[in-house]
Amino acid sequence: MNARFAILLLLATTHLLPHSAKGSPVSFRNEIAPILLEHCQTCHGPAEQRGGYRLDTFDFLTRNEDAATPVLTPGNPEKSSLFHLLVTPEADERMPKKAPPLPEALRQKIHQWITQGAQFDGEDRDAPLVEIVPAKNHPPAPHSYAAPLPVTALAFTPDGKKILIGGLREILVRDATTGDLLQRIPNASPRTFDILMHSDGASFITAGGAPGELGEVRQFDLATGRFVRQLAASSDVFLDAEMTPNGKTLVLAGADHSLSVLEMISARRTHRLNAHADVVTGLAMSTDGTRFASVGLDRIAKVYDTATGKLLNTYREHQNALFAIRFLSNDELVTAGKDKSVHAWKHTEVKKSRELGGLGDLFRTVFDGASLYAGGATGKVVQASPDKLTAQRTFEGLSDWIGALAIHPETETLAAGSHDGIVAIWSTKDGALRFKQPAHPTEAPVSK
Ligand code: HEC
Repeated sequence: MNARFAILLLLATTHLLPHSAKGSPVSFRNEIAPILLEHCQTCHGPAEQRGGYRLDTFDFLTRNEDAATPVLTPGNPEKSSLFHLLVTPEADERMPKKAPPLPEALRQKIHQWITQGAQFDGEDRDAPLVEIVPAKNHPPAPHSYAAPLPVTALAFTPDGKKILIGGLREILVRDATTGDLLQRIPNASPRTFDILMHSDGASFITAGGAPGELGEVRQFDLATGRFVRQLAASSDVFLDAEMTPNGKTLVLAGADHSLSVLEMISARRTHRLNAHADVVTGLAMSTDGTRFASVGLDRIAKVYDTATGKLLNTYREHQNALFAIRFLSNDELVTAGKDKSVHAWKHTEVKKSRELGGLGDLFRTVFDGASLYAGGATGKVVQASPDKLTAQRTFEGLSDWIGALAIHPETETLAAGSHDGIVAIWSTKDGALRFKQPAHPTEAPVSK
């Protein structure tokens, strides 16, 4: 540091000397990590490491061997580039780069934390910051939506009387017979890509986030809609979640190409599998919960042992990106995607045994034990018998891509949601359309 710079730095920093370095201790997890995530990680994270520097874990944050000024000198903010780069008057050196300086209150926090010794109050110095910070409170949903929002997640309540719909930072609850809006559950992720009923019947789990920024898996109380806890976080969205029938294990599919296996009680991650070479788009759980399976944009399907996370088999007979996978039994699976067809295969043989083609790009499948339902780009849901894989019936009414499907076998009800924001519900007994309407409260004209 040259003398002129040192003086400027002193001038720049004296006016924000801490009220009291002794004051209440600043928490890295609760106060510092959220600042770094919001203002710094885009350029210094897993995706980009500008200046060769990353700060997405505490361990990375403290490392930069080659720099003239250390990133952190505990007890001395002026000798820590993490602080002086925030306050330097040289605009082209200041962090965050090409953005207004951090608000003074935040700079003050960082100053105070370093003065207090730059302590780490998390458990694991190598854990991504996004996983150690407290769960975000998301702002309320808009009263009514300015434009139709694609429907990406649907789930029936265990009694089949209500349907849950993913919205903007909320989950909407509608009457499954009339479509009436019954409840709006706040503090959901910016977008939700899957809603999963907990096998305990008392809560539900959402997988979602903000694409390219944040992944969240959240648990909510079903009766009250209360946010219970955050189960997982990541730097990109979660697209699917599956649970073992005993409710003990949760599996998550990440847009960051990873699969995570969690123990539900503690929300502790027991396995992280870098399973796919691209986004993991879909998951399935075997009926007995001993195996789970995944598909990805890499055109591959994989089957794993749930207890050990060990890869059992890989299916490679699709030519295009995959989006949907289901177990027909403990051994047999169906997969579908941009091949415009459904493949059935035994995981022990990993060879196509049956195929149902000519369906357009497929994004979602559900299986109720008796029939398989598949939906996608045509806006139609095709019902097929699993044994022969022949189409039996087509459910029509939606006119845009289908991005969500749900089935409730006991009440013989099928739900689908489309890209233009419409939700439709049919009876699977006679194929009759029960209702079709905008999924979210919207002022935009209703498409008929
Ligand atoms: C828009 C991109 C961008 C953002 C946002 C950003 N940085 Fe940087 N950062 C850079 C670049 C580029 C460099 C390389 C040095 C340079 O060009 O000045 C750098 C360098 C650094 C260095 C120096 C590494 C070394 O080798 O000494 C530190 C420390 C740093 N940034 C911290 C931060 C902090 C803290 C934040 C958030 C408050 C932040 N950066 C936000 C782009 C960014």
